[in-house]
Amino acid sequence: NRPPASVIFIFGGSGDLNQRKLIPALYNLFLDEWLPEKFAVVGLGRTHYEDETFRGHLYEAVQQFSRRKGELNGHWKDFSNYVSYLQMDAEDQESYHKISERVKAFEEQFGEHPNVIFYLAVAPQLVPDIATKLGALNICKDTRCTRIVVEKPFGHDLKSAQELNGLLAQIYDEDQIYRIDHYLGKETVQNILALRFANALFEPIWNRNYIDYVQITVAETVGVEGRGGYYEQSGALRDMVQNHILQLLCMIGMEAPVSFEANEIRNKKVDVLNAIRKIKKEEVQSYAVRGQYSEGWMQAKEVKGYRQEEKVDPHSSIETFAAVKFYIDNWRWQDVPFYVRTGKAMHQKTSIITIQFKRAPHYAFPPEAADTWRPNRLTISIQPEMDIRLRFQAKRPGQTMTLNPVDMIFSYHDAYEDGHEPEAYETLLLDVMEGNATQFMRADQVDAAWKVVMPIIEAWEARPPVDFPNYAPGSWGPEDAEALIARDGHNWVTLP
Ligand code: BG6
Repeated sequence: NRPPASVIFIFGGSGDLNQRKLIPALYNLFLDEWLPEKFAVVGLGRTHYEDETFRGHLYEAVQQFSRRKGELNGHWKDFSNYVSYLQMDAEDQESYHKISERVKAFEEQFGEHPNVIFYLAVAPQLVPDIATKLGALNICKDTRCTRIVVEKPFGHDLKSAQELNGLLAQIYDEDQIYRIDHYLGKETVQNILALRFANALFEPIWNRNYIDYVQITVAETVGVEGRGGYYEQSGALRDMVQNHILQLLCMIGMEAPVSFEANEIRNKKVDVLNAIRKIKKEEVQSYAVRGQYSEGWMQAKEVKGYRQEEKVDPHSSIETFAAVKFYIDNWRWQDVPFYVRTGKAMHQKTSIITIQFKRAPHYAFPPEAADTWRPNRLTISIQPEMDIRLRFQAKRPGQTMTLNPVDMIFSYHDAYEDGHEPEAYETLLLDVMEGNATQFMRADQVDAAWKVVMPIIEAWEARPPVDFPNYAPGSWGPEDAEALIARDGHNWVTLP
């Protein structure tokens, strides 16, 4: 079923996010016949464009960034009929009336009042002002049809996040606000809920009685890619842990939902965030490690160190790597460590979650088999590989009883041959049009996630690092990160 009539206004129409993600996503939805029959997308910006030149600009972007650029012929023309441009100065309240006029025109064209979606693909400091000015329009009082989409970062720290949420709450109902965390739109991430709650097999052992520890790695090979200006205000903890990684942790840690209703899922997730043990500032060193990449070589290419990146302070203390050991203080997870790590300029692009089970309670095999006796392990590969592996012990064929760890693998590409898994933004944009907020962050989730990372941020800011840069590009991060987990007798898991 296609969503109801919708108009999406994109602030930052000629910006990076719109070109790289939003338009390619909408184009794919169009190809797959998921867009509403009555639909329009309006790019907003200060620069002057005719509709045709704006479309041309987006065409180039789709050619560059879409995974389906091969399907532009003929189809792009039809899609681009939905696209127009509206020049306006977002700082000038007067010019907002142009939006109301546009909505009225679409209403007449469609013969019905459409969903009106404001997508704020702009720098975070512009969000409060645009949200407020939009709030003065009558259409924003329509809590059923008008929605606002806000990108991360949601604030710079707990206080600013609360201020932002407070401001949005004065203008919009919580149901109208869609805070995007694009990790939640990824197929493999949504599948965590299916794995856990559509199978009877896993849930009974999904707890402290059977699970030894959990690991989440989100590693990237890229550096900050020209985003030094943004990253200097952020760092790995704010950029990745506060949002994406804690959301993954919630999906692994949450209780079974009763339904897929948005607030039900979000309640279960926020319970996890609230149960994460708050690390005391003076203990941060035992639970968290930070790193920054130096200059060096990666895959036979010379790469700049973080401090040599554009718009980065040559003495910057910003971390490009973070590893943290969390505990969830509740019945299910007491004493089970959740090790998480993320970094830029690392050895391999890989996002994986590892559930490490405890050893079988008794070892009955001949002593020589013991060397290869490994506990069970479930590995969920989120990207770029998309698979789930269950490691268990088998008997190696032969006359001796030799144990051998083997993998049972579910691979997306083998199981679903069409290879057309939608990208995160496709799923999330469709959800906004359909009014489904399940995969979006509610204000209290944002708040609770900040509370988890604030002690670490404060401790780090109070004590600038003395050893930065402390890891080579192309490595797995600083040595202290290995030590963090080795102290507990474990290693970070990577796929072969
Ligand atoms: C963004 C971060 O939210 O996620 C980036 O700001 C990061 O720094 C990106 O590179 C990673 O997303 P993905 O989907 O490529 O894993």
